[in-house]
Amino acid sequence: MSGKKTIVVTGASRGIGAVIALELARRGFTVGCLTRKGAGPETAVPAELAPRLVNTKCDVTDEASVKHALATVAAKTGAIHGIVNNAGIHLDAPSDKLTLDVYNQVMSTNATAVFTACREVYPHLVKAGGGIIVNIGSYFDKIGVKRNVAYCTSKAAVGAITRCLAVEWASKNIRVLDVAPGYIETDLNREAFKGPLREFLAKRIPGNKPGTPEDIAKLTAAIFCEDLSFLTGETLYIDGAQGIAH
Ligand SMILES: NC(=O)c1ccc[n+]([C@@H]2O[C@H](COP(=O)([O-])OP(=O)(O)OC[C@H]3O[C@@H](n4cnc5c(N)ncnc54)[C@H](OP(=O)(O)O)[C@@H]3O)[C@@H](O)[C@H]2O)c1
Repeated sequence: MSGKKTIVVTGASRGIGAVIALELARRGFTVGCLTRKGAGPETAVPAELAPRLVNTKCDVTDEASVKHALATVAAKTGAIHGIVNNAGIHLDAPSDKLTLDVYNQVMSTNATAVFTACREVYPHLVKAGGGIIVNIGSYFDKIGVKRNVAYCTSKAAVGAITRCLAVEWASKNIRVLDVAPGYIETDLNREAFKGPLREFLAKRIPGNKPGTPEDIAKLTAAIFCEDLSFLTGETLYIDGAQGIAH
């Protein structure tokens, strides 16, 4: 897929989503930046990239909001050729104390909303003759993590959604991939990094340090830029090999 096409990014206000949005814009794409405030990335946006951003309000847990945001981006740009379902939250608690309210918040934002956005972008991609969906999962989808039953379950669901839709929509020339990061320092875990986590990760990650949002943005952008027509349905782990390290 070359530039001059439109990719939507959810949760483009901060963290990994903002960096993905700017990386795609840098590579020539028009980027539908879906954020709860509707004001686009809250980080510094280089002046030359600003005209490529179509900033649109969207709460991914609200079906009507997702439908309306995608219709708005399509109306402004002419078509949608891809989406990055990046918006996500991390809430944790000991499993025996985890309320259904918190469990459901995590599932609805990280898993159900990914399905909703895929379903709602589908007619736009079909209309465009096909497209690419990148769901941002996590390497927590394949490991057991104390206090993280909701988050891990939600990210395992992202892998399942990715596989099912890749199989079901291949005939429409739609590819679906799960980019699953390891530890990336963002607002999602900034508090945890103030504790013993950094020292723990220095021992657990073979390269001794966490990744950056730019690492995730470059892989995601490559999926849209390279001709990888036989690659679909897979979860691509980008975790410095932490998830497979002994
Ligand atoms: N950081 C990591 O180590 C790591 C590792 C693996 C996977 N991930 C995944 O990567 C993705 C991005 O995480 P991050 O680290 O960049 O987190 P972050 O810095 O906390 O940013 C989260 C983003 O999601 C948005 N968001 C949350 N709920 C939303 C909703 N209901 N509607 C629309 N937007 C919503 C936030 O918007 P607001 O600004 O409006 O709050 C924000 O833009 C998530 O799916 C996360 O699970 C992160």
